[in-house]
Amino acid sequence: MKSAKPYIEKNKERFLDELIELLKIPSISADSAYKKDVLKTAEAVKKQLEKAGCDSVEICETPGYPIVYGEKLIDKKLPTILVYGHYDVQPPDPMDLWESPPFEPVIKKTELHPEGAIFARGSCDDKGQMYMHVKALEYMTETDQLPCNVKFMIEGEEEVGSESLGWFVERNREKLANDVILISDTGMIAPDVPSITTGLRGLSYVEVEVTGPNRDLHSGLYGGAVANPINVLTKMIASLHDENNHITIPGFYDDVENLSKTERDKMAEAPFNLEKYEKAIGINSVYGEKGYSTNERNSIRPTLDVNGIWGGYIGEGAKTVIASKAFAKISMRLVPNQDWKKITELFTKHFESIAPKGVSVKVKPHHGGQAYVTPIDSLGYKAAEKAYEETFGKTPIPQRSGGSIPIVALFEKELKSKTILMGFGLDSDAIHSPNEHFGIWNYLKGIETIPQFYHYFTEMSK
Ligand code: BES
Ligand code: MN
Ligand code: MN
Repeated sequence: MKSAKPYIEKNKERFLDELIELLKIPSISADSAYKKDVLKTAEAVKKQLEKAGCDSVEICETPGYPIVYGEKLIDKKLPTILVYGHYDVQPPDPMDLWESPPFEPVIKKTELHPEGAIFARGSCDDKGQMYMHVKALEYMTETDQLPCNVKFMIEGEEEVGSESLGWFVERNREKLANDVILISDTGMIAPDVPSITTGLRGLSYVEVEVTGPNRDLHSGLYGGAVANPINVLTKMIASLHDENNHITIPGFYDDVENLSKTERDKMAEAPFNLEKYEKAIGINSVYGEKGYSTNERNSIRPTLDVNGIWGGYIGEGAKTVIASKAFAKISMRLVPNQDWKKITELFTKHFESIAPKGVSVKVKPHHGGQAYVTPIDSLGYKAAEKAYEETFGKTPIPQRSGGSIPIVALFEKELKSKTILMGFGLDSDAIHSPNEHFGIWNYLKGIETIPQFYHYFTEMSK
C-alpha cells in the first residue's frame, strides 16, 4: 500500500470541509427534540459512503435510530473488515461553557494541537474518527488499492446504550460476517506516543429515587422530625465507598479479574506524568482506590460514580423546604469477568437494604454492557501494530482504556470476531465536555494509518 500522504495533502481542505458539514448537524440521540437531525445525519453518512466507493449502502431501520450499512465486496476469498462507528453525539450542555457554539465548527490552535483542531460536539467522539474511515476508503478505491472486502456499520444510538444495534446484530449475523472489526472511537496516549486500545470497561448505569413525605414540607415546621430524602440519599451514596475508596456493595469485587504483577509492571511502563495529568484537569491531587496507580484506577479497576444528583429547591435565593424526593444517576464502570446484570442486581439489593426507616427507595436500571480485553498476539493486533509502525515510525503501546463501548463484547459473542480499537483522539480532546475538539493532525494521521491496516491485515491473512 502506497503512503496516503500525498493524496491526503492534495485533498486535505475537502476532507476538513466534509467533516465540518457533518458536524453541523446536531445528532443528539439522547434528546428526542433532535430526532430529525439524527435521521438527517444517517442520510449524510449514507451519501458519503456511496461517494467514497461503497457498492451498496442502506439505511437499516431498527426499533430506534437507523443503522447505516455499506459494503464493498471485491473477492470472497479475501478477508473482510467490518468498520463500526457512531454518528450520534452527546448533548452539548452545559451550553454556556462552550467558547464557540457546539454545532458551528471552528478551527483553533491549542498547545497540544499546534496544527489546529476542529471544535464541535462529536468532532472526536465519534464523527471525526468515524469519518477517517470513510476517507481512508475513498483513498483506497480512488487509487485502486483496496486490498480486501469492507463493510461499514455506523449506528446512531451509541451514546444512549446501543440498544437497537444489539437487535440488528442478532438478526444480521451473516450480513455482518467478517474477519476483524475495526473501530476508531477511543484515544491514544500522545501524538508522539501511539497506542492501541486493548481493553474497555463494562458499565452498569442506574437511576435511584428516594421518597420521604408525600409532599414538599416546610423545613421549620417539620425539620428534624422526618427523614429528609436529600440528606438520606447523600448519606447512602457516601456509604458506597469505604475509607480506602473500595466499593462497599457486598459481592461487588467477587468476579474482578486480578492482574498478575508482571502485567501490572508492564502497564506501569507506559509513559505517564502525574503532574501534567493533575494540571490538565485543574486538580491539586489525584484521588482513588488505595493500592492502585492512577492508570490502574481508571482502567483495570471497577468504579462507582454519581453522574448527577438533584432534588429540592435549586432556584434563585433561599427557600426553606424539605423535598419529598431526591434522585441520582449512578454509573459503575466494570472490568473483565464482572457481569453487568449481576452487578446491577447487587447494587439494587444493597441500595434498598441500606435505606433507613422513613423513606422508600426505587432503583431503575438504564443500560449496561460487558467489559472487553483483546490479546496482543492476534492477527488484527499485529496488523495494527505494523500499520502504526509504518505511519508513526514507532511501535504502538497496548493500553487499556477506562471508557466503554458495550457493543464490542457483544460483537465478539455474536459475530465471533476480535475488535481492533485504533483510536486517534487525546484524553484532553474534551469528549462529552464543553469545547470538544479533534486535532487536524490526528484526523489526517488516522486517514493515513487505516489503509496500512487493511494492507497488513490482508497480507498477514494469506
Ligand atoms: N467513544 C466513547 C467511549 C470511549 C472514549 C472509550 C474514549 C475509550 C476512550 C463512547 O462514545 C462512549 O462515550 N461510551 C459511553 C458508554 C455508552 C454506553 C453511553 C461511556 O464510556 O460513557
Ligand atoms: Mn464514541
Ligand atoms: Mn461518547
